[in-house]
Amino acid sequence: MILEKTVEGVKKQVRQWRAEGLSVGLVPTMGYLHEGHKSLIDRAVKENDRVVVSVFVNPMQFGPTEDLETYPRDIDADCKLCEAAGAAIVFNPEVSEMYAENFTTFVDTTGVTEELCGKSRPIHFRGVCTVVNKLFNIVTPDRAYFGQKDAQQLAVIRRMVRDLNMNVTVIGCPIIREDDGLAKSSRNTYLSKEERQAALVLSKAVNEGKRLIAEGEKDGEVILGKMKAIIEAEPLAKIDYVEMVKWDTIEIHHTADCPVLVAMAVYIGKTRLIDNFIVE
Ligand code: PAJ
Repeated sequence: MILEKTVEGVKKQVRQWRAEGLSVGLVPTMGYLHEGHKSLIDRAVKENDRVVVSVFVNPMQFGPTEDLETYPRDIDADCKLCEAAGAAIVFNPEVSEMYAENFTTFVDTTGVTEELCGKSRPIHFRGVCTVVNKLFNIVTPDRAYFGQKDAQQLAVIRRMVRDLNMNVTVIGCPIIREDDGLAKSSRNTYLSKEERQAALVLSKAVNEGKRLIAEGEKDGEVILGKMKAIIEAEPLAKIDYVEMVKWDTIEIHHTADCPVLVAMAVYIGKTRLIDNFIVE
């Protein structure tokens, strides 16, 4: 496996693969890889001849008061995980390699970015779409893999690819959880022991929402109300949002009568965690 720091290096390698008729999969990440990321890499390795994993903490998608500086990093461990999983390249560029001085071009996906995380993190998806677009141009993958853990991100990327006729198939992968239900996340490392325990309210609320819908409840107010009650009972938890939206358009929707995404962002102490489920 190659650790590649330059855009040109990746492009050169991909050109060679293309000349050999090989298919290419891309797994975009910000590193500090865990089982959730690994599930994407495993699937990409199964479905493509060669797999590129990008590891880039993208400054453009962090707001001024967010955790860019403290975001956890461990490129050596990331490379080991990628090599063991069968990736061909880890693309780990410096910020200056991705963003030249006077960088002024952005990809803005509107509508699907208005609610949920788009509301709480106004510039976030512009940064995500811009960097993912750049990664698509650099790697020219046949398939790109994204987790349902970031469900709105998955919907936004699908919309961008459709709207701009990008030549890539976007593949959504299920949420990987810890044994006790907490969705795996690089940000879980911020949690103290007490906070780690308190964080279980997210998956408990998800399970309650799923249970109510499985029993036939369709009223969003009832479903979200019971989910919020579970979170509000935990003193260390503070709700950013708990919402039901249409899964394709990410518009607020009050009834589980079509494919809906039920998503939440919750602060546990200072750490903002997200979780969700989709009703197809
Ligand atoms: P990051 O948070 O590192 O996540 C990279 C990919 O791994 C995303 O598609 C995310 O949904 C997926 N993922 C994370 N935790 C997961 C879990 N528990 N189960 C399944 N998949 C999981 O998302 C980003 O990075 C960035 O926004 C990025 C797309 C790389 C653009 O910078």
